[in-house]
Amino acid sequence: MEKFEFYNPVHIIFGVGQVSRVGQEAELLGKKALIVTYKEHDFFNELLDEVEKSLSACEVEMVPFFGVTANPKMSEVSQGIDVSKTNEVDLVIGLGGGSAMDTAKLIAAGIFYHGDLWDMVFSRHDNTREVVPPQKALPLLMIPTLPATGSEMNPTAVITNEKTQEKSYTWNQCLYPKVSIVDPSLTCSLPQFQTACAGADTISHVLEFYLTGYEDAPLNNRIQEGVILTVMEELPKVLQDQNNLSARSNLQWSSIVALNGWSQPGDGWTPMHQLGHVLSARHNITHGASLSIIMPAWMKRFYKTRLDRYVQFGERVFNVDHKNKTQEKVALEGMELFEAFLEKINVPTRLSQVGINEEEIDSFTEDVVRVSFGSNGMLRSRPPVTRQGVEEVYLLAL
Ligand SMILES: [Fe+2]
Repeated sequence: MEKFEFYNPVHIIFGVGQVSRVGQEAELLGKKALIVTYKEHDFFNELLDEVEKSLSACEVEMVPFFGVTANPKMSEVSQGIDVSKTNEVDLVIGLGGGSAMDTAKLIAAGIFYHGDLWDMVFSRHDNTREVVPPQKALPLLMIPTLPATGSEMNPTAVITNEKTQEKSYTWNQCLYPKVSIVDPSLTCSLPQFQTACAGADTISHVLEFYLTGYEDAPLNNRIQEGVILTVMEELPKVLQDQNNLSARSNLQWSSIVALNGWSQPGDGWTPMHQLGHVLSARHNITHGASLSIIMPAWMKRFYKTRLDRYVQFGERVFNVDHKNKTQEKVALEGMELFEAFLEKINVPTRLSQVGINEEEIDSFTEDVVRVSFGSNGMLRSRPPVTRQGVEEVYLLAL
């Protein structure tokens, strides 16, 4: 095994109906809470009322910041910081999916940040100025309404710089929420497509570790396979019956376990996400849909570089029978079955399905190099990926 450090201090309160505890939990953290959620929040009105009543019963004042959009932007973080400073809030509550929670994190940290906020976005390698991750943040309380990003139990925030059309991310210990109230009933109103994209995103988080992560990691692999299998079993139940609370709960816990550090403790990297982020930054494609397009293409391009892991994936996740078959055949069958699963849940698996053609691939590749390549001129993966490799993945995704 590799050396690693593990730290995760998030208090999770999980279960149907637990959102009623928000006031009790918030009053332990502050007296004036900024509520960060979407610009379009009509579908949350009832929930927002319930949260406000619960806060008010515990004498916590609510300051609204309803300014977040899908694939949230730095300008939204800046607006939220202004509202926080004007109102002198002492607690930030993120209510929504990854977009709302990540914006809440960056507002909570941005209040204390000196200089250009984009400089705290950690994964940029092109920048000649020093990149300084956030060091301090107001206490954070999360109420997730989408089972995907695991933001409620990790220290990461993803954000887009709309001026440069770069989507990137930052992380540091101060971005861990103090408490996350995970109430699976809040995910019941999610439309089918968003539910399916959330499932694809959850799978991508562990699949990336599985296919590009550590060599000697049998327990990690078992946890990753467990997450993938659980999503594959539970997601169709939710697509059939959106109010299936058992399946909703299992999907939400899977999304949290995928990215809370257990499935790959220590250093993790997500090269497929780097290619997906470019699609979202350029075309505002739903995050999970960008991954459902990139995953099959990535696998086709790189399966020979980690053949044993792809064979394991086929055998353990899809029960591919290896009798009288070459290793390559087992790997390819597993990959085909995985792509068929994505098609079955109706997420896109090709760039052409989202209106993108070959003409843009050069500029997408350029963006990945600019935003995500390391100082060694490669994309972090195992083995590392060249510019040509990135381009070939996009071509295979057409
Ligand atoms: Fe993701």
